[in-house]
Amino acid sequence: MTCNQTELFELLHTKKQDRLLETLRGLSASEQEAMTKELQSVNFPFMERASEKNGKTYDIAPIDIFTADRADAECETLTQIGLSAIHANKVGAVLLCGGQGTRLGFPHSKGMFDMGLTRPIYIFELHFAYLLKIASMAKNFFPVFIMTSIYNDAEIREFLALHDYFGYDKNAVYFYTQNMAHATDFDGNLLLESPESLVKAPDGNGGWFTALADAGLLPLAHRLGLEWFNVVSLDNVLQRTVDPVFVGATIREQKICGAKVIRKATPDERIGLICQNHGKPAVIEYFELDKLLANENISIEGIDYGVILNYLFHINEMERTLTEKPLPVHKAKKKIPYWDGETYVKPTTENGYKYEMLATDLVDYMASCLPFEVRREAEFAPVKNKTGVDSVESAREMLQKAGITL
Ligand code: UTP
Repeated sequence: MTCNQTELFELLHTKKQDRLLETLRGLSASEQEAMTKELQSVNFPFMERASEKNGKTYDIAPIDIFTADRADAECETLTQIGLSAIHANKVGAVLLCGGQGTRLGFPHSKGMFDMGLTRPIYIFELHFAYLLKIASMAKNFFPVFIMTSIYNDAEIREFLALHDYFGYDKNAVYFYTQNMAHATDFDGNLLLESPESLVKAPDGNGGWFTALADAGLLPLAHRLGLEWFNVVSLDNVLQRTVDPVFVGATIREQKICGAKVIRKATPDERIGLICQNHGKPAVIEYFELDKLLANENISIEGIDYGVILNYLFHINEMERTLTEKPLPVHKAKKKIPYWDGETYVKPTTENGYKYEMLATDLVDYMASCLPFEVRREAEFAPVKNKTGVDSVESAREMLQKAGITL
């Protein structure tokens, strides 16, 4: 957006940012100049996507699951198919490291969090140990893309270099930074970071493909011969990325997308449910569920599996979706520190929205998807909180049960 100050003020008025206009008028000339520049970067159309009615209608049915028992029974064949694709450099990993980990309250990338009790063992280290194992089985250091944010890019690069990429070939590791979106209070007022700037946050893990394309990495991916991206969250410390059995099953079943899934532990577990909607693969997010269940015509009987943010996407299909309609934007309620015109406030309860796209929404764009069941105790230990559910405590316990000395 480029416009002069008068146009900008008019735009702000149209976008119902009168409170900000008031603050702006009270600023010094140099602050006003800096803030004007900042305001010109606000992507209002992106934020407005969050209020759009997405017109989604529901005709939900269960989807066939590729069960863990079946994967066990066919393990050898599937492993061979997977390893040969990995050996041929057809699969690249994408580690989603752009999150801010607000619930954990750790002031660095979660990858730098030390899970150890008697020795240091970092979350990045756990990821790279598995990647290294597969690279050695496949006799190929396949590409690993690391999506960072402007807040943690430098520290992640530094940390991995310091630890020599935990033994992985550094020439096969590519970094890129995700895009940002401005944050607001619950009434849609943009929040100030300082008299000269606004609060911004990463635009959600769904931004991984656009940011990768914006960073110019798609031509590189094609040059390297990649056909698949295996996109995973960083905060699952039992994450198996580029798992040959999963890769093999998705290829053998001729799907254009694969999703690792687990059986729901309890009916109210906060996990996105995989199903079919209008005969196509879909994920119903837990925040959609309440609204959905209030509609008596919708039943989720037989829909018992949830996604764990480990997806295989065919690159050609991803490129096609980029030109199709953009991903929906969600408003995520968060505790967002801000400058109130006098002091910097650190709220103790949620006070506003961050605007985010979700990787999970991509499944709805895919013509086919293989829901691939994995065993929770072997592959799902998310670190979201310090204590309690999905916490450092629970993940440590699961790592120990999986035989890892901490
Ligand atoms: P979460 O959605 O749980 O967010 O991320 P978070 O930032 O880790 O934690 P909270 O919600 O602030 O407490 C799931 C995965 O998606 C990545 C995270 O790094 C994590 O691997 N992520 C999240 C991004 O890469 N970018 C984002 O904008 C958000």
